[in-house]
Amino acid sequence: MLAALGGKPVMTEGDVAPWPHIVDEDRRAVLRAMDDATPWHWPMDSVLELESAWSETTGMPHVLAANSGTAALHMAVAAAGVEPGDEVIVPADTFLATASCVLQANAVPVFVDTDPVTMNIDPDKISERVTDRTRAIIAVDLNGLPADYDRLREVADRHGLTLIEDAAQAHGATYRGRPVGSLADLSAASLNGSKTLSALGEGGLFATRDAEAHRLARRVLMFGEELTGQGRDYNARIMGWNYRIDVLAAAFARSQLSRLPAMTAVREANGAALTDALRDIPGLRPPVVPRDRTHVYFFYPLLVDPEEYGLADVPVAAFRDAVLKAVGAEGLGIMRWQHQPVPAQTLFQERRGYGKGCPWTCGHARPGCEYRAQEYPVALDVCERRLVLGQSFSSLGPPNGVDTMARFADVFTKVMIDERDALIGLVRDEAVRAG
Ligand SMILES: Cc1ncc(COP(=O)(O)O)c(C=O)c1O
Repeated sequence: MLAALGGKPVMTEGDVAPWPHIVDEDRRAVLRAMDDATPWHWPMDSVLELESAWSETTGMPHVLAANSGTAALHMAVAAAGVEPGDEVIVPADTFLATASCVLQANAVPVFVDTDPVTMNIDPDKISERVTDRTRAIIAVDLNGLPADYDRLREVADRHGLTLIEDAAQAHGATYRGRPVGSLADLSAASLNGSKTLSALGEGGLFATRDAEAHRLARRVLMFGEELTGQGRDYNARIMGWNYRIDVLAAAFARSQLSRLPAMTAVREANGAALTDALRDIPGLRPPVVPRDRTHVYFFYPLLVDPEEYGLADVPVAAFRDAVLKAVGAEGLGIMRWQHQPVPAQTLFQERRGYGKGCPWTCGHARPGCEYRAQEYPVALDVCERRLVLGQSFSSLGPPNGVDTMARFADVFTKVMIDERDALIGLVRDEAVRAG
């Protein structure tokens, strides 16, 4: 019997190890950083060590550690020279920060729909959104799968745009053999606790090949000051913030980074095993990994398909919510992620921004910018069908291995195949509830 109806759950507490995976080496690194942290000065050794290790991992010569991925994205947008009223192309389906970092620079995000196979920005739909105000494109390596950077580079070069990589969800993945973090002119990654490279708390990484972009980003990181290595002159040149990373978070992330290749190998094997096990289960579409790139499964996205399940007459939302309820009750961590494309969020629908409609009404922006969710049909469809495993609650990272993935698959086999009639009952209940 389905656990949602009173049966025994497939999984029990402790079956899945949480993410991040902490070992004694990490604990020792944090304690060492604590001992080194007095007297306080900036930047401290663990911050410098994290920056040089990410530089080595990505091959990007200039790296700055920041206190969030959102901060690193803002630094990247500023370093790209984006100014008030400029436009920046961003994917319609992503986390808010990919778009709000553009607002932080008093500029205007312009959204582009999703590629239905990779679920990343569709390079073929960018040109139609480019105007004489467009300065940059931000691509996101969504779920842990890199976007299509060769095609993005071609579009960016054709229009003279800077290409920025939002690598928040994909540390460790590769595109045509090149590591995430190095795939564009500038990159920003998150080190938030749940990420595939985790600072346990909060953190971010900015990277570039360009010395001038590095200088501009560093101003944003630290109060708008010019840091020359000769001490501070306490003279803000531009609007700057305090985006300095916590030293203990930096030490933790540095320690985790030394194991990133090994952790990535486990993630790849786990994702492949899970996809093999789920491929023939009707009603679920597992993620597709093009042959030219690797996936690190920060999220393991599943798109539900009631029609394929033989339920052509029920709304997708009723089927999705019944699967969500039934799988969750079996003890497997599963959730919806973004419920709607970013441009459908109230911030963009009402365009209040900083208040009084800024930046859209600041006088620099092109007049008449509006956001209509129906212009992003693929993103809308993905948001409606998507359920995700992964992150911290059903992690595909170590120490979980293919045996744990087999348990995940057991849950779907029970819910979707063995208890098909009961699941259909739940779907009908959901459909009635939704009216
Ligand atoms: C795609 C994407 N971009 C940016 C961010 C922002 O990172 P942070 O939470 O470290 O500010 C996230 C975080 O969840 C993200 O998933």
